Amino acid sequence: MSRQAASARWDLLASMVPTGHAPIVDVGADHGHLAARLSDHAEVFATERAPHRAGRSDVRWVIADGLAPFRQVGVAILAGMGAHTIAGILARGPRPAVAVIHVPDDPPTVRTLLAADGWRIDAEGAVAEGSRLAEVIRVVPGQEPHRGAELRWGPLLAKRPPQAALDHWRRQLPRVQAIAAATKGRDPDKHTRASEDAAWLTACLHRAGVPASG
Ligand SMILES: C[S@@+](CC[C@H](N)C(=O)[O-])C[C@H]1O[C@@H](n2cnc3c(N)ncnc32)[C@H](O)[C@@H]1O
Repeated sequence: MSRQAASARWDLLASMVPTGHAPIVDVGADHGHLAARLSDHAEVFATERAPHRAGRSDVRWVIADGLAPFRQVGVAILAGMGAHTIAGILARGPRPAVAVIHVPDDPPTVRTLLAADGWRIDAEGAVAEGSRLAEVIRVVPGQEPHRGAELRWGPLLAKRPPQAALDHWRRQLPRVQAIAAATKGRDPDKHTRASEDAAWLTACLHRAGVPASG
């Protein structure tokens, strides 16, 4: 993904970092462009697993696996990593007061994993990143009240979906409907899940006045 395409996502991530919690740790910061956007905040660290991965020199780097070397963390940013990697880093701790998360490939799985591990979704946002939807999810310790398709696709995103999310859901609906059709009578769990997802997406698109097909 180009720096230009990722720029709106880094802006969204930065805008969802709350004030009043320190330190802020951008885990797997890579180039450091997101950490550099947080210069208004008091204590910001960019981390990478290996020294050769650490990027720009105007941010403070810590070479670390996840959040391991920190005694306590105010905000953990975990972006551009897989759902299980992110859930694992949060589970190993220390548990931050707030986590701001972006999973490129599988936001439904990260929402489900985190809800099961005692995190509640506090805010959500989304922007287009190239041809994909970048979903940013902010979680805090607590009990997540949403379940099923609503939890998987973004319960707070659905309240006021940005156009990019509606476009994404419209693109996803035929894929999900095809899974529901292909698994009927063969894989009841997958069929139930895909049918719920298709119904949820159809309802959201309908509410927003977006035709589900055509
Ligand atoms: C695809 S890059 C994402 C970079 C940036 N966070 C973004 O969203 O644009 C993922 C980065 O996470 C780092 N990473 C993966 N697992 C990590 C871990 N356990 N601790 C620290 N960094 C990790 C990788 O080295 C890689 O640089």
